[in-house]
Amino acid sequence: MGDHLDLLLGVLLVASPVLGISSCSSDGRMALYRFCNLTQIPRVLNTTESLLLSFNYIKTVTATSFPFLERLQLLELGTQFSSLTIDKEAFRNLPNLRILDLGKSQIDFLHPDAFQGLPHLFELRLFSCGLSDAVLKDGYFRNLGSLSRLDLSTNQIRSLSLHPSFRELNSLKSIDFFLNQIPIVCEHELKPLRGKTLSFLRLAANNLYSRVSVDWGRCMNPFRDVILETLDVSGNGWTVDITRNFSNAINGSQIFSLVLGYHNMGSGFGFHNIKDPDQSTFAGLAGSSVAQLDLSHGFIFSLNFRLFETLAELKVLNVAHNKINKIAHEAFYGLDSLQVLNMSHNLLGELYNFNFYGLANVAHIDLQRNHIGIIQEETFRFLEKLNTLDLRDNALKTIYFIPSIPNIFLGGNKLATLPTIRFTANFIHLSENRLESLDNLYFLLQVPHLQILILNQNRFSSCNQGRVHSESLSLEKLFLGENMLQLAWETGSCWDVFKGLPRLQVLYLNNNYLTFLLPGVFSDLTALRGLSLNSNRLTVLSPGNLPPNLEILDVSRNQLLSPDPDVFASLHFVDITHNKFICECELSAFIRWLNQTNVTIFGSHADIYCMYPNSLSGTSLYSVSTDGCDEEEILRSLKFSLFILFTVTLVLFLLTVLTVVKFRGFCFLCYKMVQRLLFEDRTLGRDSDTYTYDAYLCFSSKDFEWVHNALLRHLDAQYSDQNRFHLCFEERDFMPGENHIANIHNAVRSSRKVVCLVSRHFLRDGWCLEAFSYAQSRALAYLNGALVMVVVGSLSQYQLMKHEAIRAFVQKRQYLRWPQDLQDVGWFLDKLSQHILRKEKETKKDDSIQLQTIATIS
Ligand SMILES: *[C@@H]1O[C@H](CO)[C@@H](O)[C@H](O)[C@H]1NC(C)=O
Ligand SMILES: *[C@@H]1O[C@H](CO)[C@@H](O)[C@H](O)[C@H]1NC(C)=O
Ligand SMILES: *[C@@H]1O[C@H](CO)[C@@H](O)[C@H](O)[C@H]1NC(C)=O
Ligand SMILES: *[C@@H]1O[C@H](CO)[C@@H](O)[C@H](O)[C@H]1NC(C)=O
Ligand SMILES: *[C@@H]1O[C@H](CO)[C@@H](O)[C@H](O)[C@H]1NC(C)=O
Ligand SMILES: *[C@@H]1O[C@H](CO)[C@@H](O)[C@H](O)[C@H]1NC(C)=O
Ligand SMILES: *[C@@H]1O[C@H](CO)[C@@H](O)[C@H](O)[C@H]1NC(C)=O
Repeated sequence: MGDHLDLLLGVLLVASPVLGISSCSSDGRMALYRFCNLTQIPRVLNTTESLLLSFNYIKTVTATSFPFLERLQLLELGTQFSSLTIDKEAFRNLPNLRILDLGKSQIDFLHPDAFQGLPHLFELRLFSCGLSDAVLKDGYFRNLGSLSRLDLSTNQIRSLSLHPSFRELNSLKSIDFFLNQIPIVCEHELKPLRGKTLSFLRLAANNLYSRVSVDWGRCMNPFRDVILETLDVSGNGWTVDITRNFSNAINGSQIFSLVLGYHNMGSGFGFHNIKDPDQSTFAGLAGSSVAQLDLSHGFIFSLNFRLFETLAELKVLNVAHNKINKIAHEAFYGLDSLQVLNMSHNLLGELYNFNFYGLANVAHIDLQRNHIGIIQEETFRFLEKLNTLDLRDNALKTIYFIPSIPNIFLGGNKLATLPTIRFTANFIHLSENRLESLDNLYFLLQVPHLQILILNQNRFSSCNQGRVHSESLSLEKLFLGENMLQLAWETGSCWDVFKGLPRLQVLYLNNNYLTFLLPGVFSDLTALRGLSLNSNRLTVLSPGNLPPNLEILDVSRNQLLSPDPDVFASLHFVDITHNKFICECELSAFIRWLNQTNVTIFGSHADIYCMYPNSLSGTSLYSVSTDGCDEEEILRSLKFSLFILFTVTLVLFLLTVLTVVKFRGFCFLCYKMVQRLLFEDRTLGRDSDTYTYDAYLCFSSKDFEWVHNALLRHLDAQYSDQNRFHLCFEERDFMPGENHIANIHNAVRSSRKVVCLVSRHFLRDGWCLEAFSYAQSRALAYLNGALVMVVVGSLSQYQLMKHEAIRAFVQKRQYLRWPQDLQDVGWFLDKLSQHILRKEKETKKDDSIQLQTIATIS
């Protein structure tokens, strides 16, 4: 970490020379001389604590190279571009040195006394220095009583014969021999380490025991009487046989964590010539108290019967990145202490009830990235301590049950529905599935004790009406980003989904194509502190949209045009970058608010920019001036009032017109009713005259039924007491047996008016035409207006003009047309009544009735 910090500091200092030290100089405590083309140790102040000399051309270090630097703790001499010679007691002027880094410097000559005089040296880095076995054999590390970490990785060491002086290195904890060429290590070579406890011994990537045939009878146990916290023998190409022989050989040595990754055990997929480990492979580890075993990155295809039965103390088993496709019966038998089982990145396709038998204490099973498509229902039922089950990135399309365990990861599967079986959980991860119906969300919200629910990247877009109301009193975080909630919500339903979540603190609704929010949709989320609406299509946010106690809001990458600053006023943090602000005077309140608000605005000023008008496109809101907007506002309000006035008038006018057109029949009825109430006696008091009938209704007998319904019932006194006319018509009033012509003449003579209902039938009926002619001649002889003609049906001018009598009439007089719209009938009958009632003398000049239903021909 010190190294890391140095580097960080170094970069910081290089980047900012103003702060004090630039490259190739010193501030008294830290001397920074990386990449300074040095060939010699520079003269630094005796107060220096860190001296960084990597990446130079220093060739030789002798006892006099360094000035006396009593305070120096860190010396970096690694990566010299020329090869290095280190002479006797080269560092003796650095008596308090704690870390000496020579890594990646090619050391041509290293004096056996080179490291003498460093009683406080804690860490010695000698990786990639081209060192041979001699460095171990010849006592180079004598007297380094404080040495704890020795890094000899990536050298050319071929044998691990340790000099007896290793026995005195009482602080030694960690030795790294990674990537050397040590083919074999036997008991006598590591004798000086007996009685020691090493926290870390790394013998990885050495082809250890795999290139030579080992006579274990003679080699015996290399780690006899050594306690190893971590032994890393990975990357040595171990097969099942080597592993078994090694395990047997180290019988009894304590190794708490055995790293055996990158091995060659297992048949792989589709091969049979290399064995999978079996019951005997790890049997020799029985007395080694192994608590962690790493068998990752290999070719194990089948976990065989009672494979780990002797590892009663094992707590963590990692078999990730193998080719496991089969779990034999009782494969985990004996792992009574196992807590973590990592089987991720394998080839499991299905899980059976018996698979995890024996794991009484397992708390975490990692099954990520297999190909699991189906799980038998009882698979996890009896794992009572199971706390976390990770089934991410498998191929589950359906699942018949969800185990009731606190943390369940089901993300990255193909689930389209969930079983509606009750279960409990604190944490559910279901992102990257294919859930579509919000029913699933309502269902999950009912899961007892649920605190975190992750549903990102599903397909939530439909809303089913027949669901139960759900509420969760425990839910704290809900992730619903990258769905299609707009599709569900734009139908107007499922907006109540956030109604019962009083504890919810964080809600993600990013990337949901939202174009609007229903006011009050979040109003019940009284505990909500953070809300992300990032990357939607919202154009407006109103104060009612946001939850009452919100502190952090992300509405970046929306389409807010001209937001109301009051919406954000009560927040603590807001991100409004990348919206589409319209930089016109409407926005001035918002711009002023941005300039002086206490709310912390995320993002750089440049990312809060105008979209319109084009002249300001891309300009930061912070550099837009609002001058001149105030006067315009007054003008605008005036304009606005005028606009309102105009609009109201127009709307009222249109409404009136519309009412009259649409409901004229009804209006007329009302009008008549009022008239009747006010002028009741006038209608009664009309004077009688000499005629027997008020009118003779002349029509074709084929039209009788229609005339009866449409006219007689509404006008003739015999049909209703309210009717006031005495009408004459053939079917009732003609004298039977009498000559028909005589009857017609009689009727015309004894009626004040003649009303001819000219229909298609009328025109074909000789009697009717006769009656018409007679009535017309009488009308001409005595008085105008005694004949009223009503055209019924869609008769054209041409059809009327064909008949002489009618032609004569229509050329001189107006006629009535039966209305097409039913609601006009009342009005028409009233008009007709007036015609019938009209006195002869008056009718002469009263020809100017202008109405829609009267056609005029001049
Ligand atoms: C080191 O030498 C190289 C090549 O001669 C030169 O480009 C570079 O600037 C030198 N660096 C310093 C810090 O003097
Ligand atoms: C550093 O050197 C000065 C004299 O040059 C001496 O006075 C001082 O005590 C030395 N400091 C240390 C820490 O050695
Ligand atoms: C393992 O040990 C057995 C006998 O103990 C021996 O026959 C076999 O060759 C050894 N295998 C390896 C790979 O060392
Ligand atoms: C391991 O050592 C124990 C005694 O400590 C002995 O009983 C056992 O047989 C040994 N196992 C092997 C495989 O050598
Ligand atoms: C299991 O191994 C995989 C791959 O090495 C790793 O990413 C994952 O974090 C491990 N799981 C656990 C629970 O340690
Ligand atoms: C922001 O406020 C300062 C005073 O607090 C004022 O001088 C400046 O003109 C304002 N800028 C804008 C763009 O309103
Ligand atoms: C910002 O905070 C200060 C002091 O906390 C307060 O006086 C001022 O009114 C606040 N401004 C706004 C716009 O809330």
